[in-house]
Amino acid sequence: MMKYHVLTLFPEMIEQGLSSSIIGRATEKGLLQVEAINIRDYSTNKHHKVDDYPYGGGAGMVMQAGPVYDAYEDLVQKLGKKPRVIYLTPQGKVFNQKMAEEFAKEEDLVFLCGHYEGIDERVLERIVTDYVSIGDYVLTGGELPSMVMIDCISRLVPGVLNNDVSADIESFHDNLLEYPQYTRPDTFLGMKVPDVLLSGNHGKIEQWRREQSIKRTLERRPDLLEDANLSKKELEYLKRLQQEKEK
Ligand code: ADE
Repeated sequence: MMKYHVLTLFPEMIEQGLSSSIIGRATEKGLLQVEAINIRDYSTNKHHKVDDYPYGGGAGMVMQAGPVYDAYEDLVQKLGKKPRVIYLTPQGKVFNQKMAEEFAKEEDLVFLCGHYEGIDERVLERIVTDYVSIGDYVLTGGELPSMVMIDCISRLVPGVLNNDVSADIESFHDNLLEYPQYTRPDTFLGMKVPDVLLSGNHGKIEQWRREQSIKRTLERRPDLLEDANLSKKELEYLKRLQQEKEK
C-alpha cells in the first residue's frame, strides 16, 4: 500500500485529478491512498492568509513558512515517522523512470506544492528531502507535477496495472521506446497491419517488436541508446540501421 500526502492550496485539483481511471480504481481497491492536505487549514491568520510580499521587494507573493511547517509537523505526528518530502520545482532534479522506481519503494511520500513566486526558503531547508522538476518548462504550481509523479509511481505499485508484467515491458524497459501497436480492422485507410503480427509465430513477433523498439529509439530518442540494454545480435541490428542512415 502506497500512501501519498499532498500539501497544497488546491486540494480539489489533486482529488479530482487522481479519482478517475487506473489510479482511481487502484485507490478504490485499497492499493493506494491519496490524501490532499489543505495548507490553508494551518493558517493562523484570521483571514486564512498563507502568503505575503517578498522581503527585498519584487513581483508576486511568497508562501509563508508557518502554515507549511505546521501542516508538515501535523502529518509527521500522525505518521509517527519522517517521510521523504518532495518539493516540486523547475530547480529540481529532472524526474525519470529510474527515480520513479526508487520512490515506489517508499510507504509514504509527501508532495509539497508551491504557488505564486514560491515558498519561504527556511521551511524548504527544514523539511524537503528531494527537489524534483518534471521537465525544463515553468508551470503555475506544483499540483500538476505532483499528479504526474503520482501517476508514474503508482503504475509500479504491485496490482495497480491489471497485467503485472506490463509495467516492465512498456516504454523504457531496457531504455528502449515501445514498439507500435495495432488492432482491428486489419486494413485502415488502405494501410495494412504488418503481416508478421498475423502470422501466429510468437518468436518472430517478439523479434520484430524488439527491432521496431530499437529502430524507433534510434529515430526518435537516439540519446536513450547510450544506456540501452541490447544483446549482441541487437547491437548488430542497430549498427546496420545506423549504417543505412548514413547512406
Ligand atoms: N513547478 C513549476 N514548474 C515546475 C516543473 N517544471 N516541475 C516541477 N515543479 C514545477
